[in-house]
Amino acid sequence: MKQMLQELREVSVSAILNAPDSDALEALRIQYLGKKGELTKLLKQMGRLAEEERPAVGQLANQVRAEVEDAIASRRAALSERMLQARLAAETVDVTMPGTRAAIGHEHPMYVVLDEIKDIFIGMGFEILDGPEVEQSDYNFTKLNTDEGHPAREWSDTFYLTEDSSILLRTQTSPMQVRAMESKPLPIRMVAPGRVYRKDEVDATHSPMFHQIEGMVIDKGVTMADLKGTLDAVMKKLYGEDTVTRFRPHHFPFTEPSCEMDVQCHKCGGRGCPTCKGEGWIEILGAGMVHPKVLEGCGIDTEVYSGWAFGMGLERLAMRRFRISDLRLIFENDVRFLEQF
Ligand code: PHE
Repeated sequence: MKQMLQELREVSVSAILNAPDSDALEALRIQYLGKKGELTKLLKQMGRLAEEERPAVGQLANQVRAEVEDAIASRRAALSERMLQARLAAETVDVTMPGTRAAIGHEHPMYVVLDEIKDIFIGMGFEILDGPEVEQSDYNFTKLNTDEGHPAREWSDTFYLTEDSSILLRTQTSPMQVRAMESKPLPIRMVAPGRVYRKDEVDATHSPMFHQIEGMVIDKGVTMADLKGTLDAVMKKLYGEDTVTRFRPHHFPFTEPSCEMDVQCHKCGGRGCPTCKGEGWIEILGAGMVHPKVLEGCGIDTEVYSGWAFGMGLERLAMRRFRISDLRLIFENDVRFLEQF
């Protein structure tokens, strides 16, 4: 009996310590310690032993049981540690591997220029205003001293949204002059960038939607000299101190006198080339002293206050700034183009 117990101990402990996984270990536990297990079977035979043998055999049996149980526990711990190590190895992240780079966009070149222009004007004490693209004809034309018969009011030139021509897509940012004068206390120094719409065919320099920046100053004693000095300074800040500008007389219904400002061609330095169409100059904006009728329409006393205003095309400024040859590139949003800036 003793010998059988010792054999059982040897065989079972070595089997347990070599169990390949936890299922095999559990099978061994049942095989040796289960209700019908081998150790249990042996113990049941104790009754056949002589009285004086029983204590010693009983002691040995308990010892064997304890050793088998210890073996199972230590094997279980070893197996679960091995599983943990295997999982850790399988789930390791190699932080030295090159990552997948997320494509990060950047500001559109036209908005880069817009931000530069805003910064220049903010530095001069102007505020930035925003206004509606769907506008009343009153604001787009009438309050801007534009006659009923003015060609810009034609249905062939302007996108109207109502049959009675009272609502339209603004053709210029100039309605913001009126909106500012109606809503702001004097003096006013404002810049209002935004989209405008005209029924133009698309080509290298035209699009039915484009961007303008309106600007206006209303204060006491404001003159044409302020207009010229301010706009010349803005162009020098934007394009460099050696930028040369000139002002030509022009006509707008809502300014008097009116002018256009040109910047000397950067390509030929004023000699004339294909970029400036042989002119030596590139037209940048329309401007003028705000017409007394417009001021009066907004309830401003023209004996005390005067003002100047301008409107410039943002696409054109961006094209000049980044040497872009075709307006359509600005709107197509082809990343191969946009990535260059
Ligand atoms: N709104 C005019 C245009 O679109 C430009 C302009 C603005 C002229 C302000 C004078 C004063 O051509």
